[in-house]
Amino acid sequence: MMFGWLKRFLPRGLYGRAALILIVPIVALQLVVSAAFLQRHFEDVTQQLTNALALDLRYVLTRLDEDGRETAEAAAAELQITLRDGVAERSDARFFYDLSGREVIAVLRAQIPEIVYVELAENDRVVMIGVETPAGLLELEASRRRVSASNPHQLLVLMVFTGLLMTAVAYFFLRNQLRPIRRLAHAAEAFGKGRVVEYRPRGALEVRSAGRAFLDMRSRIEQQIEQRTMMLSGVSHDLRTPLTRMKLGLGLQEKSPDIEALERDVDEMQALLETFLDFARSDALDDVAPTDPKALAERIVADAVRAGGDVELIAPDDVEEVDLRPQAVHRALANLVSNARRYGRKARVTLHVLDHAVRYTVEDDGPGIPPADRADAVRPFSRLDEARNQDKGSGVGLGLAIANDIARSHGGTLRLSDSADLGGLRVDLVLAR
Ligand SMILES: Nc1ncnc2c1ncn2[C@@H]1O[C@H](COP(=O)(O)OP(=O)(O)OP(=O)(O)O)[C@@H](O)[C@H]1O
Ligand SMILES: [Mg+2]
Repeated sequence: MMFGWLKRFLPRGLYGRAALILIVPIVALQLVVSAAFLQRHFEDVTQQLTNALALDLRYVLTRLDEDGRETAEAAAAELQITLRDGVAERSDARFFYDLSGREVIAVLRAQIPEIVYVELAENDRVVMIGVETPAGLLELEASRRRVSASNPHQLLVLMVFTGLLMTAVAYFFLRNQLRPIRRLAHAAEAFGKGRVVEYRPRGALEVRSAGRAFLDMRSRIEQQIEQRTMMLSGVSHDLRTPLTRMKLGLGLQEKSPDIEALERDVDEMQALLETFLDFARSDALDDVAPTDPKALAERIVADAVRAGGDVELIAPDDVEEVDLRPQAVHRALANLVSNARRYGRKARVTLHVLDHAVRYTVEDDGPGIPPADRADAVRPFSRLDEARNQDKGSGVGLGLAIANDIARSHGGTLRLSDSADLGGLRVDLVLAR
């Protein structure tokens, strides 16, 4: 776009932009109006006033011509003009900032050709006019207020003052209009991170309807999560009782290889049910709390090492606490580490604490997952090519799905890629803070 560069200098927030939209036209309008008005108005007023003074001067000069100096002085006094001898050294003078002075001199000279000088600079309260008369050089002095509008700056002061007042009023109105939008943004952001904050639609019609739509969406999502949880946990729970009965029944049988195999199957089924329950509950695990992300990773790595794994942790020295759901993140990371140990021999966990996110990277030296299968691997109950998974224990295919869910509920993501260092899979668990 032609004005693309301009964007960098414009305010980014809605508030700043709205203020700009309000203020720029007002200031522009005021500037144009005041420039035009001042110019025309003051020129005209000065001209009219000066013309009036010129008439008085002409009258005094006529009296001087016809009746002599004494009568002229009396007539001048009546018109509040002083008549005295002129000063030959004087010439036209005004202060450089005295804009109306120029007009005064021009008008006086045009009206009274006998004028020798108009002195405005010696005393800015009076006008001294030197006139050549038959009686010699005389000087007429009148108050400056008779030729110049007295308070030309009043208009400006008034304009700036009302301008500031209006800006302040606009500021408060705008702030009240923007607050509901900010509240909505806050509620939506929090929900993205798995937190439900109190929110009621307020403000302008459009903001209200966006707010209501958000509330509808939020309650629908909550309902869906709840339904999923209820279904999975209901099924798992209902299956537990018959399984326990079967286990008891098998325990009463005489031991034989067949019975032992059956018992193993029942144990496995029980373990699967536990995992289902975990998955169902993964959204409702625990509350957000300030957590040390390094200590959390240290615990998981220590557990894995104790279980005989070759796992190392790379983390920065001092790590500040971050708002997380500790049990959920523990579960997600543990799933990733257990995958790395199951499908590889060596594993590495790296922690990065960034401004807006916490990132755990888990790498291993296993076979990795080809890019085409990555989306599949994250889906619940999906286990990739069975040949690879032989002898790898009894996974259900929920590990990555749970980790993904937990990342999402923290406003983050789960990314699969290749480990450049170890050659196997690399999983980034990114959690927004
Ligand atoms: N580190 C890894 N290296 C290679 N393949 C992996 C790795 N992690 C996961 N996979 C593949 O992705 C599939 C899905 O992983 P996921 O963790 O969801 O399930 P699982 O490990 O099979 O079972 P569960 O974790 O529920 O016990 C696995 O079956 C496996 O084929
Ligand atoms: Mg797994």
